Amino acid sequence: MNSQIFSAAAEVDRAFLIILGFSVFILILITVLMVFFLWRYNHKRHPVPSGSEGSVFLEIMWTALPTVIVLGLFWTGWTSFKAMRNIPDDALAVEVEGRMWSWKFTYPGGRTDPDLIVPVDTPVRLIMTTRDVIHSFYIPALRLKWDTVPGMTTEAWFESSQTGEFDIFCAEYCGLKHADMMSMLKVLSQEEYEAWVKAPEKRKVGLAVLKEYGCIDCHSLDGSEELGPTFRGLGGSNRLVVLPDGSEKEVVADSDYLRRAILAPSDEIVKDWDDMMISYEGDVSEEDLNAMVTYLLSETAEGGEQEPSEGDKLAMEQGCVDCHSIDGTEEVGPSLLDIYGRKQLVNREGMIVEVVVDEEYLLRSMVSPDRDIPEGYESGMPGYDDLDEESLALLVDWMKSIRSMGESAAISGEEGG
Ligand code: CUA
Repeated sequence: MNSQIFSAAAEVDRAFLIILGFSVFILILITVLMVFFLWRYNHKRHPVPSGSEGSVFLEIMWTALPTVIVLGLFWTGWTSFKAMRNIPDDALAVEVEGRMWSWKFTYPGGRTDPDLIVPVDTPVRLIMTTRDVIHSFYIPALRLKWDTVPGMTTEAWFESSQTGEFDIFCAEYCGLKHADMMSMLKVLSQEEYEAWVKAPEKRKVGLAVLKEYGCIDCHSLDGSEELGPTFRGLGGSNRLVVLPDGSEKEVVADSDYLRRAILAPSDEIVKDWDDMMISYEGDVSEEDLNAMVTYLLSETAEGGEQEPSEGDKLAMEQGCVDCHSIDGTEEVGPSLLDIYGRKQLVNREGMIVEVVVDEEYLLRSMVSPDRDIPEGYESGMPGYDDLDEESLALLVDWMKSIRSMGESAAISGEEGG
């Protein structure tokens, strides 16, 4: 079981273990008695059945005992339920919004983030809603699982006694990509949290915004068909759309159209596609909307998207991008965004040392990844010492090319997961 980082988690575990332990005890008791009776009262050993009728003592016992047991089990469950439901008044309020298929967290002051970021030892009140269907907000480490229900606001709370990162899942089947509806709970120290709150929100660019809003869960970048039309070749193209009255109309995918498509998707459905996208009206900030439209216009325009370079192709082939994002998001391994030249704390045989990421480091990290393990990450990357020198050099160049400003230089068809 996960460590208990939340006081109420201990109560939940206790209730669970008591009920489980008692059930196992009853199971064993009944099984043993059953076998004993089979043996003791079979026909050979006990040819003449004896009857017993009417026993006030037994009647009282089998009424009273189960009542006491059931009430006891109820009490165990009730106390742990109460611990989870009594939300402290001074709790930090964070809004949680579920949508197909991502979570969005809004902090006091309006800041949003795809991760739940909270200070340690501080009660947090979660105010939960959903944009579409029922989801279930689930953090195993906190033993916290609560549904988000359309048209309703639900609440839950927690307090973490440990810093660290913990998984957030969706525990209610909500459609095709339900399993991808994951996020992270990041518990920071008080100082780190203060710093995070004060730090100006990083301006989100391009692909990262599309990722955050879950756009590329349904719209591919590489031309493949997902739940919605692909983004490839979208910018500036002509589209045939179906209006609410059933008539068809040709429109140009300019910035006006893209804004409409995001804010009022049902008004112009791309022909041959279903009306299933939910409006982002009120959900997306003007700034993020602009970033989306800019990206969609420039990066997806016909001829605007670049053919994947040799480095892109190799990195995809070798699976580098399965564990290392190129847009700054945390995956299994560190993000490769702006990796070249950055200072990195690494664990070298148990010692934390600082290295500057140069070509030699990049090369070494592929060939013998276990020598320097970036702090905060686990070892587990396979060594790529079977690659020839030319390929390794290509990958080093590729990593060097992943910069914040020149995002298009990186894989244009990169997708989450
Ligand atoms: Cu949301 Cu499953």
